[in-house]
Amino acid sequence: MKRPIILHPDPRLKKLSDPVPDLSDELRALADDMLETMYAAPGVGLAAPQVGVLQRLVVLDCVKAENETPRPLIMFNPEIVSASDEMNTYEEGCLSIPEQYADVTRPRDVEVRWIDRDGKERTEVFTGLWATCAQHEIDHLDGKLFIDYLKPLRRQMITRKMVKMKRELART
Ligand code: NI
Repeated sequence: MKRPIILHPDPRLKKLSDPVPDLSDELRALADDMLETMYAAPGVGLAAPQVGVLQRLVVLDCVKAENETPRPLIMFNPEIVSASDEMNTYEEGCLSIPEQYADVTRPRDVEVRWIDRDGKERTEVFTGLWATCAQHEIDHLDGKLFIDYLKPLRRQMITRKMVKMKRELART
């Protein structure tokens, strides 16, 4: 089932999310819903706070080429274990901030540890778009958005545009 995505600015997007204590069928269903919502958007990642659930859960699939096999990942309690000194700059966007994009510089490679859908602990080193995406989604769990990396003026400009967009959406 697709879930509505919360748009910035919204206090729920600024909150610290709680660790997931134990996996349940309810949480697995939430993760499946989030993947469905992400693919439909379409997007490459989605964090639980974006659908109004303040728990540490993200989903991602950064396979973009249409001839490549999708690789949906569900991460409960994801953590960045280590990050490279080398940095990478990508133009980022966010499903909670539609139509707004900006360059963000982050570590090029990150080692991430998480609990998967079966409750197994997994660790993997991500690079390129996957590394950026994992960091962007984990930031959401700490109430941080990609626009928080921008200069205040640019951030305020984007936020003003979003306030206007939300006002227009509320009217229709
Ligand atoms: Ni995002």
